[in-house]
Amino acid sequence: MNNLDKIVSLCKRRGFIYPGSEIYGGLRGTWDYGPLGSELKFNIKQEWWKAMVKNRDDVVGINASIIMNPKVWEASGHVAGFNDPLIECKTCHQRFRADQKDVIAEHEKFHKEKKEKTDWTEEKKFNLLVEAKLGVVEGNKDTVYLRGEITQGVHANFKNVLNSSRLKIPFGIAQIGKAFRNEITPGNFTYRSIEFEQMELQYYVKPNEKESMKLYEFWKNFRMDWYKSLGINPDNLRFREHAKDELAHYAKAAWDIEYNAPFGWKECEGIHHRGDWDLSQHQKFSRQDMSYFDEETKEKYIPWVIETSGGVDRATLFFLIDAYREEKDRIFLKLNPKLAPYKAAVFPLLKNKPELVEKARGIYNDLKKDLMVAWDDRGNIGKRYFSQDEIGTPYCITVDFDTLKDDAVTVRDRDTMKQERIKISELKNWLNGKF
Ligand code: GAP
Repeated sequence: MNNLDKIVSLCKRRGFIYPGSEIYGGLRGTWDYGPLGSELKFNIKQEWWKAMVKNRDDVVGINASIIMNPKVWEASGHVAGFNDPLIECKTCHQRFRADQKDVIAEHEKFHKEKKEKTDWTEEKKFNLLVEAKLGVVEGNKDTVYLRGEITQGVHANFKNVLNSSRLKIPFGIAQIGKAFRNEITPGNFTYRSIEFEQMELQYYVKPNEKESMKLYEFWKNFRMDWYKSLGINPDNLRFREHAKDELAHYAKAAWDIEYNAPFGWKECEGIHHRGDWDLSQHQKFSRQDMSYFDEETKEKYIPWVIETSGGVDRATLFFLIDAYREEKDRIFLKLNPKLAPYKAAVFPLLKNKPELVEKARGIYNDLKKDLMVAWDDRGNIGKRYFSQDEIGTPYCITVDFDTLKDDAVTVRDRDTMKQERIKISELKNWLNGKF
């Protein structure tokens, strides 16, 4: 079993991620997050929001609707240009993305092993937008799109945000939310899904080549540092510049932050210079003025946009992969404590000793007011450590017979397995210091 298979299995077994609609045989490219997975994902989003919005004076957040007027997607270029090259295997009629050379080679090998030839159809453009029908009159429903990127909800609200705040350029609007794509070949667990979540910043800047590139560099490095600050091994991260023929229809420049996954170096986040594409297009299609007036210089212009666009599901997957450790007697997730689903677990040494259980319950209930904590009184202490290690709980707190005398507990560290005695009265402060 390679590491990805082991992680997929751990995710299912421990309640991080399940295949979508599993009881009905599933739906390709969809995934459901279980109790631990939704905590991990929530913590990732919270850390992102903290770094990108809360800790900054120049960025505000919004939450736009998923379904928008379809004209938005004509203006943004997605109806005409949001395409992947599609080819079909004439032998088995399976469809593939023509630019995924490794997947195609694997398919050809599959047929070759069965002494079959692989013939491909001509490449054709396949639009990734997911359509839905909206309306209350049968036979007369409007086609709408589930957003293919969360970006356009921000640009369509550029003037609303500008007019309802006191922001001055350069400033950014951030958003986290779901996006949908009719992916030809979803796969590699959650890496390429039909439905996924994005966390994006659209940063509006003055249309000036040199100044905008300086800010572009700033955001590129800022985003890379964010992954490193949350514990991803820097050796597993790199930048990759998009070649000119790879650039999305809106991009003047694009760099990816890639992660060294078990299935190769893969895109985790894109940093794009979108120029004036979005606001100019919305101005043209909506006939609304999308320009910015600089009170100081008296200049009027359509701002340029620097975008940082990360996938929450990909970040979740890469944080999990990077944290996965196997040692002789245990498996553990070395997740940054800020991201770990549970910050601590509380155990009474023995579950049939009411005085220990009562003391441990008191600590658990008190910690629970501020932190996600787990309770475990099953089996022996070794098994409980093993179980918490596997889900990345950084600290295990045991109430033993000494606790009844000295009002202290044993705290065991997930990574070092070292134990120390901490006074119950100091426990909360001690833990908070770790996060
Ligand atoms: N607004 C720009 C934009 O959407 P993108 O490079 O197409 O750019 C940005 O997507 C990020 O969204 C990717 O780096 C990835 O993390 C995530 N993403 C894109 N397609 C995805 C999919 N099918 N499944 C999971 N995540 C995806």
